[in-house]
Amino acid sequence: MLIYPEAGVTSHEDHPLARIAVHNAIAALDARAYIKASPSVLGSNGLNQEWITLEYGTGNPSNDDWVGVFSPANFSAATCDPENNMVTPPLLCTAPIKYQFANRSNPNYKRTGKGSLKLQLINQRSDFSFALFSGGLRNPKLVAVSNTVSFANPNAPLYPRLAQGKTWNEMTVTWTSGYDINEAEPFVEWGPQGGQQTRSPAGTLTFDRSSLCGGMPFCAAGAPARTVGWRDPGFIHTSFLKELWPNLVYTYKLGHKLFNGKYIWSQMYKFKASPYPGQSSLQQVVIFGDMGKEEADGSNVYNQYQPGSLNTTKQIIEDLKNIDIVFHIGDIVYANGYLSQWDQFTSQVEPITSRVPYMIASGNHERDWPDSGSFYGKKDSGGECGVLAQTIFCIADTEHDWREGTEQYKFLEHCFASVDRQKQPWLIFLAHRVLGYSSGDFYADEGSFGEPMGRESLQKLWQKYKVDIAIYGHVHNYERTCPIYQLNFTTSATDDA
Ligand SMILES: [Fe+2]
Repeated sequence: MLIYPEAGVTSHEDHPLARIAVHNAIAALDARAYIKASPSVLGSNGLNQEWITLEYGTGNPSNDDWVGVFSPANFSAATCDPENNMVTPPLLCTAPIKYQFANRSNPNYKRTGKGSLKLQLINQRSDFSFALFSGGLRNPKLVAVSNTVSFANPNAPLYPRLAQGKTWNEMTVTWTSGYDINEAEPFVEWGPQGGQQTRSPAGTLTFDRSSLCGGMPFCAAGAPARTVGWRDPGFIHTSFLKELWPNLVYTYKLGHKLFNGKYIWSQMYKFKASPYPGQSSLQQVVIFGDMGKEEADGSNVYNQYQPGSLNTTKQIIEDLKNIDIVFHIGDIVYANGYLSQWDQFTSQVEPITSRVPYMIASGNHERDWPDSGSFYGKKDSGGECGVLAQTIFCIADTEHDWREGTEQYKFLEHCFASVDRQKQPWLIFLAHRVLGYSSGDFYADEGSFGEPMGRESLQKLWQKYKVDIAIYGHVHNYERTCPIYQLNFTTSATDDA
């Protein structure tokens, strides 16, 4: 077992896709082997999530045969875009977006050489193909490749994520599409439910491999993010919906106006605006960290990565009518440099993020990479180093230095000082790693009972600005403490006046 400072999971650095030795893959196409996918066009009815059926067979079956899902469909070396021409690209230029063992639904696969699988695909801006491999995950031999499958509109605007804006009456909407600004104008059409709708423009961002951190291309010691884990992120659009009325329900649709005058629309979504600060209201808040994602079809589950995330997501969706805002304080996807996983996560949480603000903080799995400016020099982000998840609101970012004299310390002090405690009586401090007190075993082993230099640096601020509650992730266990100041209980939990 890998020793790693997060309890409850066997190994965070070992993403399921990292178990596949992509660089060792060789072509061994077998005339007797085949794999067929159906249907070949998905989403004709507007859906962006569909199930497909695979039928496959081989003349030389084995229980370690596996099926990889590739997107884009053409994953051969001929399509690779290596970082430098000194390195010969491997047979496969990308890791699959997910995989499943060939005998999963047919225990007799080894004897019959025939199997079938049902897999769920989401619209990820590219087509798909499916490949049957022998040789297990460590020495993959490509024996058959399927026909291509694609969504009717792979560029469709998808996966809206709401976030509370800089002021109480502003909501930001972020989404993903395949449309660059030189193809279409992105915007949000929105307004009070049943009332007049207006349009607000959206900005467009993207990034390429060179934005990410990483090691030598195709080097086993390097990051996956710039090599086999790289996948084109598409375009990320953000629009700011302003001057919202307190508590009013708004509807919104994502739109792209093509230059030929045609409009591409998402489905209609809705949200409820915040109350006016200080207004009498009950706000129900959900706060958690370290959720991750999982495949609903059971792919990739062989190291029990984050199966609980499906339960958590489902429960939040069921409770959504009683939830006003969600905080996911770091370790969001655990993509660890396999970029396809971000789409899969945003798809998984879309029923939540499209309805209520979903506020995120950076965790070690979004940020940390040696010599990239993170406070910790580990490789937990797989080379993403904060490019896919950057946050700038009033939550501490534990992957950057927070000690006195740093920019973040000043930011936090400013944040605490600017709260109007008449209108916002509760001051809550959030961060990914435990900057307060934790009896988690790895902190106990260090004797620090919390992230070293956490309390020492910040407790003066907490005391001065009378922070009421601090909530953290990272430890993957529930614990709570009585009020503590400088390692002493200041009062009992019950007589805190
Ligand atoms: Fe963490």
